[in-house]
Amino acid sequence: MHNGGRAVKKTPLLVKVLNGETASTPPIWLMRQAGRYLEEYRKVRAGAGSFLQLCYTPKLAAEVTLQPIRRFGFDAAILFSDILVVPDALGQEVAFREGEGPVLAAFDDEAGLARLDRNGFLERLAPVFEAIGLIRGELGDDTALIGFCGAPWTVATYMVGGRGSPDQAAARLWAYRDRQGFARLIELLVEVSADYLCAQIEAGVQTVQIFDSWAGNLPDREFRQWCIEPNKEIVRRVKLAHPDVPVIGFPRAAGPLYKAYLTETRVDCIGCDTSLPLAFIRDELQPMAAVQGNLDPLALIAGGAALEDRVGEILQALQGGPFIFNLGHGIVPQTPPDNVARLVELVRGGGKG
Ligand code: CP3
Repeated sequence: MHNGGRAVKKTPLLVKVLNGETASTPPIWLMRQAGRYLEEYRKVRAGAGSFLQLCYTPKLAAEVTLQPIRRFGFDAAILFSDILVVPDALGQEVAFREGEGPVLAAFDDEAGLARLDRNGFLERLAPVFEAIGLIRGELGDDTALIGFCGAPWTVATYMVGGRGSPDQAAARLWAYRDRQGFARLIELLVEVSADYLCAQIEAGVQTVQIFDSWAGNLPDREFRQWCIEPNKEIVRRVKLAHPDVPVIGFPRAAGPLYKAYLTETRVDCIGCDTSLPLAFIRDELQPMAAVQGNLDPLALIAGGAALEDRVGEILQALQGGPFIFNLGHGIVPQTPPDNVARLVELVRGGGKG
């Protein structure tokens, strides 16, 4: 179609599905699709110095964002960054150590909270917005660009624990010991995260995902207070400024609380983790929103029949409504890139070998 000689901008398939359409072939992208399983990523990463320098160098961040799109032709690119640039931009010390993951200068009291510096928060993230402009300039109109942030609870678990942990004990203990003090950290994170997502949208992303990767360890009262309420408030703020931009929520491992999360936060799409039964996703979640997920990242490592069978089951269960093919959690470094190419082929070919 033409409009006074100019091509009319196409709406990417991913955005159509986020807005409730059912696609004959579902769009596909993978959480953590840029990363160490790709040799071209490892090369750029080795030349960048630190991981944070890679995140904050717009040309390099744009390059690694585009690598998986060139290789696999996914329907969406996700901005290359990390959820922990938010504490970094608040002045908390953050480092990514080889083989150890993120290490932060932990705190679990009001004195630590008082040391955070909110002034200049968005200015410190300017390289991220610059990277978004560069990526958007390189992507075709039919490939969506996804922005993201960590949800307040998940980001807080790193800020308070100082590193990843299997049980997020440090943050859970602060929240039990001093509900009001911990609530002030969560409120701060709600405000800056909403500002950060709005600024990403203004720089050119077409949808945003909120990663609540550690939502699964909270009892239901705490889940409502530290997961649902903060996510809901971020969605409200983003929608107030950008009513037409769809939001994806990912309350990983929330089990039966997924439904309450979806109805209360009013996200447009719900990211489903690996453990959610397909019938539950289809019957309880998909009637209310687009659904995204939920292939086991380990099935992608295994490949072969295990991969083919599961992809077929997922497509059969979820393809009848608004559905985005994804993993149930991030891709892992051992994943053979050939299996990713095979996955894209399976999804686009309807799952038949
Ligand atoms: O999806 C993408 O391709 C975009 C980039 C992206 C990264 N991290 C890059 C990254 C995204 C969306 C994230 C999100 C993120 N970061 C989450 C939420 C999603 C999830 O997986 O649960 C969390 C909890 C983090 C925090 C984080 N960053 C951890 C725990 C680690 C260490 C573990 C690991 O995989 O090494 C990181 C580092 C990180 N973030 C890497 C990448 C590519 C690897 C570091 C490297 O390349 O040196």
